[in-house]
Amino acid sequence: GRPQIGASFSNSNEVLDGKPAGDGPPKQGGGTVSITVVGASGDLAKKKIFPALFALFYEDCLPEHFTVFGYARSKMSDEELRNMISMTLTCRIDKRENCGDKMEEFLQRCFYQSGQYNSEEGFAELDRKLKEKEEGKVPNRLFYLSIPPNIFVDVVRSASRTASSSTGWTRFIVEKPFGRDSESSGELTRSLKKYLAEEQIFRIDHYLGKELVENLSVLRFSNLVFEPLWSRNYIRNVQLIFSEDFGTEGRGGYFDNYGIIRDIMQNHLLQILALFAMETPVSLDAEDIRNEKVKVLRSMRPLKVEDVVVGQYKGHTRGGRSFPGYADDPTVPKGSVTPTFAAAALFIDNARWDGVPFLMKAGKALHTRRAEIRVQFRSVPGNLYRRSVGTDPDTATNELVLRVQPDEAIYLKINNKVPGLGMRLDRSNLNLLYSERYRREIPDAYERLLLDAIEGERRLFIRSDELDAAWAIFTPVLRELEDRRVAPELYPYGSRGPVGAHYLAANYNVRWG
Ligand code: NDP
Ligand code: BG6
Repeated sequence: GRPQIGASFSNSNEVLDGKPAGDGPPKQGGGTVSITVVGASGDLAKKKIFPALFALFYEDCLPEHFTVFGYARSKMSDEELRNMISMTLTCRIDKRENCGDKMEEFLQRCFYQSGQYNSEEGFAELDRKLKEKEEGKVPNRLFYLSIPPNIFVDVVRSASRTASSSTGWTRFIVEKPFGRDSESSGELTRSLKKYLAEEQIFRIDHYLGKELVENLSVLRFSNLVFEPLWSRNYIRNVQLIFSEDFGTEGRGGYFDNYGIIRDIMQNHLLQILALFAMETPVSLDAEDIRNEKVKVLRSMRPLKVEDVVVGQYKGHTRGGRSFPGYADDPTVPKGSVTPTFAAAALFIDNARWDGVPFLMKAGKALHTRRAEIRVQFRSVPGNLYRRSVGTDPDTATNELVLRVQPDEAIYLKINNKVPGLGMRLDRSNLNLLYSERYRREIPDAYERLLLDAIEGERRLFIRSDELDAAWAIFTPVLRELEDRRVAPELYPYGSRGPVGAHYLAANYNVRWG
């Protein structure tokens, strides 16, 4: 694991702009690392994976001997791959410092192999080229499966045969979706395990690589003031909110087969929930943390259909501009009832959280883009200032907000006195705004996760029993919604979403933040 996971921190009151202590470049001694991006011609590879690899190289985080390969069916030369990659590379960290040279150096380490995904010859040819680059050093190989899920197993079958080595490691990063329900997810796991050991499978959930999500455990477990409050005794409800201000934009074909519950709730929001609600792990080791996450997930009640509201965005014209509805996307089947919005109330049946509603809300084509965790606390018993703060718990109680994106922040709403001779109370924020406190740009989630996979750090990847527990919560309700073809409530593109979400929250005396 990385040394900086353990402890080091800066105590300074100054705005931090350098590399934090303990953030030195991790290196792999002796061997080589080759990273093969399977599906290199695709959207995710271009948008996220190659730029993240370059950022790691630029920050001197990649091992000395590394090679990047792209693999896909499209015909491309090494040069063409480099041209394609170079379009999306940016010098995020420091635009002035020898950026062009670094890009060129990086691109010279990138190569391409074209082949079918089920073709042993294609992967044998890739293996031959990899060996050439490995120059007899200890070979470590990372395959990133940035491809549609129906071909995961083909690739693993072919790639794992050619990739065995007695000395180095071979790992596979797998992108979601990991199945569509408990059954298909179990089937995928069983198929992957025919060729790979669980330790070789790195199931990615990129929300776990986001800075604020990483900070959640630090906040809880390294500050005395939060953990004692972290239970049903003090917390009224927890809200996990994801919203995007754009629609499925070209991904309608993929999306229609999944819907927002599978796309966002079952993975990104549920992972945050598990980290939020878990008991203190024995240590920061991956297995200890994941053991605690599994326990929380297994203590959750399967979601009931009456605790879910679904919506779908419809076309809307605003300021002379028209925004298409989900159903207007030509790749979406006619009459689709796939939800692009969902709100849900979830419960954890354990001693810490009994009765506390965990409300999730996720939607596309809403009025704003944000991801937040909001913790609403109970009201102060026998509050002396009840008259001044009012009795409405939504305006009088404390609320802790972790804004995951955009504009990362952690703030706590408190009541305080308005300065002056009178006694008037006011709600204010104790505010940690990252852009003010830390001048350094925040790395993209994919950078952290790629680096972790290279280093064999599994803490932020999903173990198969976690995945099973996550699907057990959502599979029954998904089945019911789909069997009954429950019609989603339509909401205009760019709006706040279906009003049903407010009624659902009101059933549990909650108002959305
Ligand atoms: P793409 O649809 O762009 O597919 C990636 C590549 O796979 C394509 O360039 C194509 O390469 C090949 N491919 C596409 N369709 C098929 C097919 N039916 N059969 C065989 N090969 C095919 O996917 P993305 O890059 O968008 O995503 C990759 C993975 O990451 C998917 O599992 C996706 O769900 C997941 N993901 C994507 C996100 C995104 O923002 N794009 C976000 C989170 C997850 P070629 O034709 O050259 O072989
Ligand atoms: C992906 C979903 O997992 O996350 C997309 O498939 C969504 O639908 C994306 O847009 C959001 O990620 P981010 O990091 O941009 O918030």
